[in-house]
Amino acid sequence: MTEDAKKFLAEVTALKTAAEKAATAVSDGKALERWRIEFLGRKSPLGRLSKSLTSLAEGDRPAAGKALNELRADLKAEYESLQKRLGPKKAGTDEARLDYTLPGVQPPIGTLHPLTKTYYEITAFFASLGFNVAHGPEVEDEFHNFGALNFPPDHPSRDAQDTLYVNDEWLLRTHTSPAQIRVMLEQRPPLRVIVPGRCFRADAVDASHYPVFHQVEGLLVDENVSLGDLKGTLTAFAEYIFGPDTKMRFRPHFFPFTEPSAEVDISCVVCGGEGCRTCGGKGWLEIAGAGMVHPNVFRNVGYDPEQWAGYAFGMGVERIAMLKYGIDDIRLFYENDFAFLKQF
Ligand code: DAH
Repeated sequence: MTEDAKKFLAEVTALKTAAEKAATAVSDGKALERWRIEFLGRKSPLGRLSKSLTSLAEGDRPAAGKALNELRADLKAEYESLQKRLGPKKAGTDEARLDYTLPGVQPPIGTLHPLTKTYYEITAFFASLGFNVAHGPEVEDEFHNFGALNFPPDHPSRDAQDTLYVNDEWLLRTHTSPAQIRVMLEQRPPLRVIVPGRCFRADAVDASHYPVFHQVEGLLVDENVSLGDLKGTLTAFAEYIFGPDTKMRFRPHFFPFTEPSAEVDISCVVCGGEGCRTCGGKGWLEIAGAGMVHPNVFRNVGYDPEQWAGYAFGMGVERIAMLKYGIDDIRLFYENDFAFLKQF
């Protein structure tokens, strides 16, 4: 091989190295165009080398030509890969801006509010037992909210349910129990209903209290209804919502509209009954009030308490959602914080 040919090959190698080095600094379309002119343009060293090929000794030409062709192919490949990386060369045109391979803009898909979800689950369970869903008004009168439910006019249990009064007679309902009265006045037994709804109390806001909250009321009236029916139903409910290992207990309590009455506890969902911070060391968590419909309530709606028996219960939806999803502050439900809501 002649000295000229050796020099030619060395130049090819040097050019390749220089082009690769320069390519690493190319960061936009303009720089890419400069790179193209410098290494692939008509006046580039590549062009000059092509022309000088003919001046080499005939025997050296095939090897030199092959090296040159390889260099050209390498530079073109480099150019194309830079182009791909930096985007279409006609930057700014519609053609350049439209990339049909990009995923489309997806409208955000909403999720159910955790309270709605919990309410749907509660409803699904009782619907499977043949309960209908009824609704009552959020603004109630004294008769439905208290009187017909056997709260004597000056009974202290009215104080525990202080609320906003619209006037002397109308108030924001403090529980969903008044819907029991409305249902019984409209229908004849046998009947089974649940009543979901918003309730109101003049409670100070803290991690577990809010002046607006939600309950689901339940009422079943039939012949030969026993406390055992109530207990069995609520036990099955607790297992459905919180899992098959959940235990349930009735703790004697007073409600004017049921006799006997109980507060319903489930074994703590966090510690399983051992005692922890969530259950205050007790191993039990209250989820509902319940009892057998008081004979006076039946009398107030014109049912014969000798013929009919019934059970009723009322549960807090927030409370159940908090226990089910491990939510530690009731205020989270009402703040419309997307980061919180999107998890359900
Ligand atoms: N209404 C009661 C409350 O809000 C809860 C309740 C207790 C409802 C016993 C019932 C029941 O139907 O039988 O505190």
